[in-house]
Amino acid sequence: MKISVFGIGYVGLVQAAALAEVGHDVLCVDIDAARVEALEQGIIPIYEPGLERLVVENHGAGRLRFTADPEEGVQHGYVQIIAVGTPPMEDGSANTRYVMAVAGAIGRAMTSEKIVVSKSTVPVGTCDEIHETITAELDRRALRALGFHVVSNPEFLKEGSAVSDCMKPDRIIIGTDSADAEAVMRELYAPFNRNHEKMIFMDVRSAELTKYAANCMLATKISFMNEMASIAHLLGADIEQVRLGIGSDPRIGYDFIYPGIGYGGSCFPKDVRALIATAAKAGAEVNILKAVNQRNDAQKRLLFELVQQRFEGQLSDKTFAVWGLAFKPNTNDMREAPARVLLEALWDAGARVRAYDPQAMNECARIYGERPELVFCDTKEHALCGADALIIATEWKSFRAPDFALVRKALRTPIIFDGRNLYNAKQVAVHGLEYRSIGRPETIP
Ligand code: UDX
Repeated sequence: MKISVFGIGYVGLVQAAALAEVGHDVLCVDIDAARVEALEQGIIPIYEPGLERLVVENHGAGRLRFTADPEEGVQHGYVQIIAVGTPPMEDGSANTRYVMAVAGAIGRAMTSEKIVVSKSTVPVGTCDEIHETITAELDRRALRALGFHVVSNPEFLKEGSAVSDCMKPDRIIIGTDSADAEAVMRELYAPFNRNHEKMIFMDVRSAELTKYAANCMLATKISFMNEMASIAHLLGADIEQVRLGIGSDPRIGYDFIYPGIGYGGSCFPKDVRALIATAAKAGAEVNILKAVNQRNDAQKRLLFELVQQRFEGQLSDKTFAVWGLAFKPNTNDMREAPARVLLEALWDAGARVRAYDPQAMNECARIYGERPELVFCDTKEHALCGADALIIATEWKSFRAPDFALVRKALRTPIIFDGRNLYNAKQVAVHGLEYRSIGRPETIP
């Protein structure tokens, strides 16, 4: 099937590559000509396991191509997938400007029937607006009879496992009221719908809301656990024991109940705030969502507060080793990363940082530029040299079993502040290290 994908960001590129991999003929469109040019040469703009191979092989096979020309994109695909960004506006609501720009381009250039698929995370009602925008353009061209349908098909991929999430989805949500569009979507996703039925059809608005409901539910689990962690800490309980205790109930489950320093990334923070804004416009009271968001903002400052308390506010002469910058492992993404709140608070307090991250150091340098209070280190051990204490902000696998004796020797004050509860407190104490983590008793050797 011929498919055009508008927007070569995370969602667009991974989805396009997955569709090409199963044999569809995919043309990706982006207004960023430099990005298009780079992709044509096999340079992938994001780090995502397995993506490079998928893009390069399918590009080589001629099934995955890139263009900066929207008209070419509109002509190519019977299915037109919109996967452009929906950045937050000041009140937290999602800005659908880029989505509508693509809709306008489709309406201006289409000369044959199309199925328009909204994959961007958009407020409920956006598909109706896409429909109106395309209709208005067709009216202007006196082509009202040209058929098209707008389908909602939200994306649930996770960074770090985006390729496998796309190749083996848990579910494929399709919002449409048209039997024709339903048949096309079935054909499009048939290669991903093996073994058991993964496609769930519903009306357009429910599909749009499903995406927000899923992300907000997961964010709620995390904020709930972070709140429990703060209670556990004050009561001398260990949240990690509590986590195991409650996760064993299948109604609760072990997933997404890890306490930490707050959720980051391109989706959860933005989507929680966007749904709060949508609800406010609709006149709904959303106290739970507001609390989830507030808890997360507070949680992101927690690691800094632990450091500040321990050093009694005297941070201006201190240097901290920071392990982990990305908002989570297996990505170089630092959007809304808790590490950013930590770094900025440390700098405001006059401290210096020696940072190490397996993937996100270039991204961090791009965000903060050259500054004397930030030194990037080649290895996690190198970050410890001359540091007063160690702070862990991302749970990369390579941080899980460090040489504690070396950590003890390298640090001026032998303390680990662990924002991800990576270690067993006793194991750390044996090496003469003080250990402060989230929602667990402090251990002082
Ligand atoms: C998320 C959703 O999982 C995905 O379905 C959606 O399409 C996009 O948003 P992503 O942002 O890639 O994906 O990251 P995810 O792995 O879900 O983690 C989000 C954040 O929650 C991270 O900052 C992570 O550290 C945090 N988290 C996750 C916790 O603090 N505790 C947990 O138990 C799980």
